Amino acid sequence: MRKIKSYVVKGGRPLEGKVDISGAKNAVLPIMAASLMARSPVLLQRVPRIHDVDIMLEMLEALGAACSWEDAYTLRISPPSELGVTAPEKLLREMRASILVVGPLLAREGKAIVTPPGGCNIGPRPIDFHLKGMEALGAEIVEGDGQIVFTSPRLTGAEVMLDYPSVGATENIMCAACTASGKTVIHNAAKEPEIIELQNFLNLMGARVKGAGTDRITVYGVEELHGTEYTVIPDRIEAGTYLIAGAITGGDVLIQNVIIEHLESTLAKLAEMGYDIQRGSDSVRIKAARRGRAIGVRSMPYPGFPTDMLPQMISLLSLAEGVSMVYESVFASRFKHVDDLIRMGAQIRTEGRLAIITGVDRLRGTTVRATDLRAGAALILASLAAKGQTTVENGEHIDRGYEDVVGKLRGIGVEITES
Ligand code: EPZ
Repeated sequence: MRKIKSYVVKGGRPLEGKVDISGAKNAVLPIMAASLMARSPVLLQRVPRIHDVDIMLEMLEALGAACSWEDAYTLRISPPSELGVTAPEKLLREMRASILVVGPLLAREGKAIVTPPGGCNIGPRPIDFHLKGMEALGAEIVEGDGQIVFTSPRLTGAEVMLDYPSVGATENIMCAACTASGKTVIHNAAKEPEIIELQNFLNLMGARVKGAGTDRITVYGVEELHGTEYTVIPDRIEAGTYLIAGAITGGDVLIQNVIIEHLESTLAKLAEMGYDIQRGSDSVRIKAARRGRAIGVRSMPYPGFPTDMLPQMISLLSLAEGVSMVYESVFASRFKHVDDLIRMGAQIRTEGRLAIITGVDRLRGTTVRATDLRAGAALILASLAAKGQTTVENGEHIDRGYEDVVGKLRGIGVEITES
């Protein structure tokens, strides 16, 4: 179990320096799950050392795969000749992304047994789109005694229409379709960069997938998949979070090892606020010579503004000049940290998925508590700007998706300790 911890930050100074961005959490988790389908070892490079990777590792080992770190960031996954098909309930409850093993298990073993997943408390996290997708491919699904049992001797390719461009459902169906007999077309598919990465990885394993990045993905089933090597792309949400660290403190920060194209919606909003954004080939520099202007932000599926960046943007807008409107259209609640921001001096009113933020001149340090990964990151960002000391309790939420947050923040001048 993860250590309960707090981060203690002395804020109020402009940050300066460089941050190296790690591998993308939301790219590596589906790729690790998909590795279960390989009949020979998989080697993943630039794997981020974050807690969600540890949980997915535990999941793969529980299903029989042998996993080992070749070096600090290179992970070898060797699936067994026959996988276990029951995903441990503890892991499913701890991380919603564990549900991503269903497609690979069905594709490889024709069976998967899970319990409804848990994960971040950013609202109800149903899996109905996943169930509909597996059913469309011919799986028999029996729910009972808190378990969901998926069975299919062999899946059959089908036309699958997603009610919503769900990232996880798209990924699960892509995997299950890889060894289904015939052709599968996923309509209204998610278009996130992480979907493109999964397609690239599956094709390196011998699958035949095309169309990722558009709303229509086509998969031609093959007999089986083999191992491969793959390098994980940089994390666009970690990159956006550190850009806001530079902005919120009025600093000058260089973010290195990024794919600029994946950051466009975040960069556009920071530029709209008046910050000076300098693009390199694989880096971005943000210089926040002045206080940001208030703007409007609405989260949307990619390429719109990412829901995973909304809590962090709310912290930044708390100190902007003017009144900002923020609307969360993906999850039921991305505002769990707002009460704590108000205790730090922010002026925010929320009504359902809408937040109205009246910028203030300063925030003041106090003790706050992380409730989920991105809300925790947003509180850390607020603490960087706040006058005095802030203690962010339940800091382990942040470690789920941010590698070496103390080292990276110290590298840009933050006085931070963990306790
Ligand atoms: C992925 O979650 C990401 N997680 C999330 O990142 C991200 O916020 C989300 O996509 C949207 O971009 C990973 O990739 C591991 P969805 P996922 O299925 O797949 C509803 C982070 O902080 N829905 O696109 O769970 C759902 O409730 C995490 O890094 C159903 O109703 O997201 C939500 O309202 C948080 N039924 C919406 O769709 C379903 O069967 C989008 O969910 C599935 C989803």
